[in-house]
Amino acid sequence: MGRLQGKTAIVTGGARGMGEATVRIMVEEGAKVVIADVLDEPGQALAKELAPATVFVHMDVTSADDWRGAVAAAAQLGSLSVLVNNAAIVMQKTIMETTEEDFMHIVRINQLGVFLGMQAVFEALKASGGGSIINVSSIDGLQSKNSLTAYSATKWAVRGMTKAAALEMGKYNIRVNSVHPGGIYTAMHGAEFMSREDADGFYKNHALPRVGLPQEVAAVTAFLASDEASYSTGSEFIADGGWNAGLVEDALPQL
Ligand SMILES: NC(=O)c1ccc[n+]([C@@H]2O[C@H](COP(=O)([O-])OP(=O)(O)OC[C@H]3O[C@@H](n4cnc5c(N)ncnc54)[C@H](O)[C@@H]3O)[C@@H](O)[C@H]2O)c1
Repeated sequence: MGRLQGKTAIVTGGARGMGEATVRIMVEEGAKVVIADVLDEPGQALAKELAPATVFVHMDVTSADDWRGAVAAAAQLGSLSVLVNNAAIVMQKTIMETTEEDFMHIVRINQLGVFLGMQAVFEALKASGGGSIINVSSIDGLQSKNSLTAYSATKWAVRGMTKAAALEMGKYNIRVNSVHPGGIYTAMHGAEFMSREDADGFYKNHALPRVGLPQEVAAVTAFLASDEASYSTGSEFIADGGWNAGLVEDALPQL
């Protein structure tokens, strides 16, 4: 029996990238999944491939109405007990290039979207006797980089909101954790125009000197969704090839 047998989940941004990998592993582990995304074509194709375990719902995470639709779709599949707040966009602009509109645009999707999601599923998770919310933050929710002021602000916010929500929801047996991927080979990382080999090159001084794969993060998310993580809440789970540990210094002795 799969680790997620009997569970119903919503995965935002589930049409491609890490969201798609998360949907696939969750279905393999026995879950039913609502694939929620603004990208209709790949989302519908994935839902068709994995039917009847999945349905696709067009949703923009910034819309409370769309959230209500996703929760209603989940109720058709089963008793909702897992939310993966994965949808996000990235923006690489210096602080001086970032307009107020840019800043608020990314805050609405990456930050408000996660907030609305946690609000939208609370009653359903409570009615299910508990559940697991997994908020996808980033290595940039632990540290940051030049050009990521706005993105990083949202990813630190996700990490912070995760802790507050964990403290509020724990008494209902709802766990809330954040996942922090490093560089992962998806469209957000330029996978559509960059080879794996070129992507690996960015990470030559990392403990694991290669780019990460979407399924390597999805595996962490699936663990958090499962009952195996029953005593983990309010915590950060990092899958970054060791990025947050530091960098290998070429000038210093090495093994
Ligand atoms: N790829 C990386 O290197 C990396 C590193 C750290 C963290 N992350 C995080 O991992 C998560 C997944 O990223 P990915 O690399 O798979 O990116 P991706 O761009 O491949 O996928 C993101 C998905 O989110 C969807 N989306 C965007 N805006 C939306 C909205 N308003 N409503 C609903 N869906 C929306 C997109 O359509 C897409 O399907 C994101 O939270 C991202 O910030 C990615």
